Amino acid sequence: MQAVATPLTECRACPRLAGFLADCRATQTDFFARPVPPFGDPKARLLIVGLAPGYNGANRTGRPFTGDYAGVLLYSTLHRYGFADRPQSISASDGLLLNGCRITNAVKCVPPANKPETAEIRTCNRHLAAELVASPEARVILALGLVAHNAVLQALTLKRSACKFAHGARHILPNGRILHDSYHCSRYNTQTRRLTEPAFHAVFDAIRRDL
Ligand code: URA
Repeated sequence: MQAVATPLTECRACPRLAGFLADCRATQTDFFARPVPPFGDPKARLLIVGLAPGYNGANRTGRPFTGDYAGVLLYSTLHRYGFADRPQSISASDGLLLNGCRITNAVKCVPPANKPETAEIRTCNRHLAAELVASPEARVILALGLVAHNAVLQALTLKRSACKFAHGARHILPNGRILHDSYHCSRYNTQTRRLTEPAFHAVFDAIRRDL
């Protein structure tokens, strides 16, 4: 695991992303526009890993999956399964509490066009690796999409060949943690019905059985 040299909110390790955030701060003065920290219960047994903050979502509000469409299905599902005290996440100051669950992203800074570069995903992994070291209680991990799945494997120094991403897959990792995979709950995936509500709930049924 690489060392985390700077606190997350001051990280400038990816020049392109740091520049994009600086531009955003200059034009959108009411945006959070910093690397977005994890949100939720620090002692959670379930860690959910997304891709990266959305420009008008987490990058604006400062909370993962908050303020844009990507959070709609996620937070309603967390509420349904008892991990959230309400079905919507509106802003970082709305008082929402997560119970037994924590949400983070594979890449902490908003990427241009929602597309982090391979090198940025790799560089940012130091933060996810540090979060996993600091959260031994997080025995169950949910990866939302392939990038998150691969980021979890890298953070735990596991080879990609150890387990392949597939929606609904459940992988028992060599370190005893369990990795569940789901398609990302993005607007695109939900509106095209690549990810339906029942299919997402089925993943949470499996997670509940593991907790
Ligand atoms: N917002 C996030 O915080 N993460 C995602 O993966 C998508 C939207």
